[in-house]
Amino acid sequence: MLTPAVTKARGLADLPPVQSDSLLQLIALCDADPRPEKIDVGVGVFRDGAGNTPILKVMKEAEQRLLDTQVTKAYIGSAGDKRFVELLRPILLGEHADDDRIAGIQTPGGCGALRLAFELIATVNPTARVLVGTPTWPNHPPIINAVRLEVVDYPFYERGQGAIRFDDMLAALSAADPGDVALLHGCCHNPTGADLSEDQWRDVARVVADRGLIPLIDIAYQGFGRGLEEDAFGVRLLLSTCDEVLIAQSCDKNFSCYRDRLGSVFLKTGSASATATAMTHLLQRAREMWSMPPDHPAACAHIILEDPELRARWLVELANMRDRINSVRARIAAADPRLAFIGRQYGMFSMLPLSVEQVVKLRTEYGIYMADSGRFNVVGMSDGEIDRFIAAVVEALDA
Ligand code: LMR
Repeated sequence: MLTPAVTKARGLADLPPVQSDSLLQLIALCDADPRPEKIDVGVGVFRDGAGNTPILKVMKEAEQRLLDTQVTKAYIGSAGDKRFVELLRPILLGEHADDDRIAGIQTPGGCGALRLAFELIATVNPTARVLVGTPTWPNHPPIINAVRLEVVDYPFYERGQGAIRFDDMLAALSAADPGDVALLHGCCHNPTGADLSEDQWRDVARVVADRGLIPLIDIAYQGFGRGLEEDAFGVRLLLSTCDEVLIAQSCDKNFSCYRDRLGSVFLKTGSASATATAMTHLLQRAREMWSMPPDHPAACAHIILEDPELRARWLVELANMRDRINSVRARIAAADPRLAFIGRQYGMFSMLPLSVEQVVKLRTEYGIYMADSGRFNVVGMSDGEIDRFIAAVVEALDA
C-alpha cells in the first residue's frame, strides 16, 4: 500500500540570500578599506570642509532643551509629533499651507514616507503602475515592489551628455494610464543632480494633470539646491495643478539627523472630507508597520522651528551646507570641460560617465569609493581631498 508523501514545511533555513542595497554595500566596502587616504563619495551624507558630518549646533541646543524639559516619554500616536508637522507645512507647502485638502503625518525618514505613500496607492488601486525615471535612487524600486505595485521605467537622464531626456520623459508620462503614479524628485535629483527647470516642471505638471496621473514627489534635500523656497517649486506647482498629490518628505539631510530618521508624508485630494478619510488609511498602515515614528528628531525639529532664534540659526546652518555643496561643485566643474555639467546641477549627487570597470579601478587603485553607476557625493570629500579626487577622475576619463 502506498503511504502519502509528507511534504516538509518550508522553514527559515529555506530562505535564499538577498543582496543588500548597493549603497549600503558600498559603506561596508569603504569601512573595510584600511588605507587612511581613502575618499568616501558613496553614501549621501553631508560632510564639511574637514570631512566631518557634525550634528548641527542648533540641533545640539534643541537636544539639550529637550533633555532639560521633557517630562514624559508616553506614546503620542501614529501621526507622530503633530506640531512638528504643522510647523513643516509652510516650509514645504508654501502658499498651500492652509489648504484643508492637504494633510500629513510624521514618518521614520523619507523611506517611511515613501513606503506609506505607496501602501496607500496599493490600497486604493492595486493595478496602478508607478512610472520611475531612470536612473533613480536604488531604494525606489524595492519599496514599490514591496507593496506589489508594478514599476515602469521612463528615461530621465543621459549620462554621457549630463542632460535630462526631457522629451522622452514627457512622452512616457503622456502615454501612462489615468491612476498611474508619476514618481518625481522634488529637487537635488538623486542620483544625477539634474533638476527640472521651472518651465520643465510646468510641462510635467500639465501632462500629469491632463493624463489623470497621481504625482508622488520625493523631496529629501529641500534647501540643499537653490534655497529652501526655490527647492519646493515643483511640489507647490503640482499642488496648484493636480487634485490628488502625494509628497514623501525627509528632514534627515536638512536637519542633519540622518540616523534619527525624520520625515513626513502629505496627501492632497479634491476635498477636505476625502482627505480626512484617506488619512485614516495612512494612520492604519503606519500602525501596522511601525505603530509610531521615533519621537526624538521630531521633538528637536519642533523646538527649532517654534523658536524664532533657533529657526534663524537653522537657516544659517542650512545655507552653509548648501554653500559648501555649490562651491565644491564649482571647483570640480572648473577643473575640466568634461566636468562642467557638475556646476549646472544641484544637491549632493552627480553622475560621472564612467564604466563600472573604471569605477572599480578608482576604488582599488586610489581608494575612491563611489557607486557603480558613477554617482558620487559632491560633499563626501574634505577640502583637502578635492584635488586628488579631480586628478583621479580626469585620469579615468582620459583612459
Ligand atoms: C543616498 O542616496 O545615499 C542616501 O539617501 C542614503 C540612502 O539611504 O540610500
